[in-house]
Amino acid sequence: MRPIVAPSVLASDFANLQAEVEMLNKSQADWLHVDIMDGRFVPNISFGFPVMEAIKRFAQKPMDVHLMIVEPERYIEQFREAGADSISVHLEACTHLHRTVQQIKASGAKAGIAVNPHTSVQLLENVIADVDLVCLMSVNPGFGGQKFIENTYRKIEALKDLIIQRNSQALIEIDGGVNQYNAPLLLEKGADVLVAGSSVFSSADPLQTIADLKSVK
Ligand code: DX5
Ligand code: ZN
Repeated sequence: MRPIVAPSVLASDFANLQAEVEMLNKSQADWLHVDIMDGRFVPNISFGFPVMEAIKRFAQKPMDVHLMIVEPERYIEQFREAGADSISVHLEACTHLHRTVQQIKASGAKAGIAVNPHTSVQLLENVIADVDLVCLMSVNPGFGGQKFIENTYRKIEALKDLIIQRNSQALIEIDGGVNQYNAPLLLEKGADVLVAGSSVFSSADPLQTIADLKSVK
């Protein structure tokens, strides 16, 4: 099955955001991945609602919003209003994860859970049947352009087993250090969604790089 490809806007040229979003509209990308960082859950600050709304004005594809923030439950409805089609919260940032997942669904967005590289996917066992997406972080969140963590392959296998066992419909999304070289094995292990920031936006031909990721088997 061909992967869902979700370029991460974090790696785009913010001074030319309209042109970057229009490039993604023309490309074979399926979703736009939007990284929100608060300087507390992660040691970096990305952007907030005004920028997200600016992206939304031009985006013709679903916005997949990745919240790297503490207390995400305070902002779910506002992200939905700003145009989020799916919203992922970090397991490590949610004391009442089940409740927050239900809150995302009630907002009308698809519900995702993101997990840090050190977090065991077994911790998802009691909530996996309720989610649309699991975002496996293949770098420590906070920055684009980091090196892919190889242990992710094992986690995809374990998560795939859990999804089957629990009869869940969740998609497996891989985020961090994804490129044309590791994509084939990621898909072979069971990934459904590939997030790619620097490998797309630092390439000489982003449209071609997106097409290459899309055609990985
Ligand atoms: C990392 C973000 C990622 C990041 C991916 O904290 O969640 O979405 O933008 O960027 P690359 O593909 O450059 O690792
Ligand atoms: Zn992300």
